[in-house]
Amino acid sequence: MEGLTEQEYTTLLERLEEEFSEYYELAGGKNYRYHHLVRTHRYVKKLVEKPEIRDLEFNLKVLEVAALFHDIGRTEDIEDGYLDPIEAHEGHAETGREIVEQFIDDILSEEQVEEVKQVIGNHHSRPEKVETRIVRDADRLGLFGPLNLWRMIHYASDKERPLEDSIEYFWGEGREQKKERFDELNYECSKKIARKRMEKAEETMKTIEEEHLGKDI
Ligand SMILES: [Fe+2]
Ligand SMILES: [Fe+2]
Repeated sequence: MEGLTEQEYTTLLERLEEEFSEYYELAGGKNYRYHHLVRTHRYVKKLVEKPEIRDLEFNLKVLEVAALFHDIGRTEDIEDGYLDPIEAHEGHAETGREIVEQFIDDILSEEQVEEVKQVIGNHHSRPEKVETRIVRDADRLGLFGPLNLWRMIHYASDKERPLEDSIEYFWGEGREQKKERFDELNYECSKKIARKRMEKAEETMKTIEEEHLGKDI
């Protein structure tokens, strides 16, 4: 199945970089969102190789473009050079559906643009379509691993919270939330990756906690 050409991919990346490089994201920092989108696209390409997914019916080009642009609506939530992704979560899927066309209409057919709009609009709500289910899993994979610790601690720092609060959040509310997100993953292969990442993150958090309390030596 035909995916994006090297040239199309590079062009789309340039557009994304332009949209996402001029502001500071709380819970991530500068360029965080751009890298999240590049990663989500990479994960999608990995997931479609898995036996569980590769024989399903989907349009690879639609899938790739939707992965790259799924959070484009967040550009509308930037205020005075800052974005708080937790406060400003609501509505970015719908906004994305409304604004994505201008970035992709020279690369996709009209029908494919409509499909991308549908995937983006539903990426936090209605995962009925195969493409949405795959993008949603790839997007969610970012929540489980040690990299998400960086986001959590970074956000805590912006809000001037002490490390103890992050540790408490990680083992309490954060863990519960991750379990819920885990159960919502659509494919077993995604669950396998998420499980491994959760173990790694818990190990890392234990190490941080022990060292913080001076109990590591
Ligand atoms: Fe999103
Ligand atoms: Fe996302």
